[in-house]
Amino acid sequence: MELYRGNIIHTPERGRFEALEHGYLAVENGVIRGTYKELPTAYSGYPVTDYGEKLIIPGFHDMHVHAPQWCNAGMGFSMELLPWLNAYAFPAEAHFADPKFAEEEYRRFVNELIRQGTTSAVIFGSRHKEATRILIELLRKSGIRACVGKVNMDRNSIPELQETTGDSLRETEELVQWMQETRPGTDDRVQYMLTPRYVPCTTSELMEGLGRLAQEYDLPVQSHLDENLSEVAWVRELHPERKSFADVYDYYGLLRPGKTVMAHCIHMTEEEVALLQKKRITVAHCAMSNADLASGIMPLRKYLEKGLDVAIASDMGGSHSVNMREHIVDTIKCSKLYWFYHKEAAPVTFAESFSMATLTGENFFGKTGCFREGYAFDVLIINDESIQTGIEHDPLERLERFVYLGDSSCIEKRFVAGRECNPV
Ligand code: GUN
Ligand code: FE
Repeated sequence: MELYRGNIIHTPERGRFEALEHGYLAVENGVIRGTYKELPTAYSGYPVTDYGEKLIIPGFHDMHVHAPQWCNAGMGFSMELLPWLNAYAFPAEAHFADPKFAEEEYRRFVNELIRQGTTSAVIFGSRHKEATRILIELLRKSGIRACVGKVNMDRNSIPELQETTGDSLRETEELVQWMQETRPGTDDRVQYMLTPRYVPCTTSELMEGLGRLAQEYDLPVQSHLDENLSEVAWVRELHPERKSFADVYDYYGLLRPGKTVMAHCIHMTEEEVALLQKKRITVAHCAMSNADLASGIMPLRKYLEKGLDVAIASDMGGSHSVNMREHIVDTIKCSKLYWFYHKEAAPVTFAESFSMATLTGENFFGKTGCFREGYAFDVLIINDESIQTGIEHDPLERLERFVYLGDSSCIEKRFVAGRECNPV
């Protein structure tokens, strides 16, 4: 049994903080046994790691991020999605044909996630099998939790990224099998996730094949949905036979109940909202990216009221940062701007936004994101001395300040399942 003392803050459920000033956390084999105001006598013989005035908070979850776009993040944002993909995202990803380049860039990317306190991430690779294998190895070494896949894209990209349907499916299956063969024992934190880029980049034949692989290997799926109005119109042209963008994925078995993340989902019809709700699809809300690429403002409050499972994501390079604190803030800001024009949609609170970036459900990373009994000790130790002033604040106010104006140097330690994560 290990015991930790400090100012413990988490959201045991969406939108509700629990704060224990100078409380205790009991951990056994990387799993939380309980939080306590006073130390139970049964634990009095165990040593305590005392973090004093520091904050003990859950690590951040990024539910949608593009690993091969760290090298082009923050550029080309005068464009909207479709021209930006051709001018920036695709040319950047083409470099990942070179494994040596991939190794260096992916090391930078993984280290940036760790630096910013991300302890679980849902990650797009490029379409290259070898580069994705390298990314998986780095993630395994890092100790963070991840769902990751090579991107599948057999139409409408640039010549350097074009893959045939057959190669795309074969290489995907080879990677899935390689992960199974090289699985690191019971402490397995990195899973394969099928990654069709989005409907305009995947032929019907490819989506059908991926649907088959999803069934055969029981794999989770990630993609993009209803991000940009030109993109939505294009999907309608490409698939007039289907009811909607979401219906295309559903038809090919790519909306797997409880096992699918769809990024953006800004411009959904009522029918699409109902479909995602029925299938328990996780919506990755990318507020910063939606602003950077002028894609729109997602009606977050409406989705929450309709019972959609929404989690916050960076979508970096569609946005300019993997720092989840910025995405928590941008989620709140965008919901306030939306509220200004739609008074029926109350802005989200800090507690709601924080929980959507930490407590994202058990389907993708297992029990992690809060400090209830049985959850993993996936934790950040926050030293906010550098942003303290002459006025004293309680731990919750200090957390809000850290999220709004702290920086990564305030993150003193990062734990996943009780083990410290360090740069790779
Ligand atoms: N849709 C298809 N590919 C991408 C991508 O790389 N980024 C974003 N934001 N949207 C996409
Ligand atoms: Fe994306």
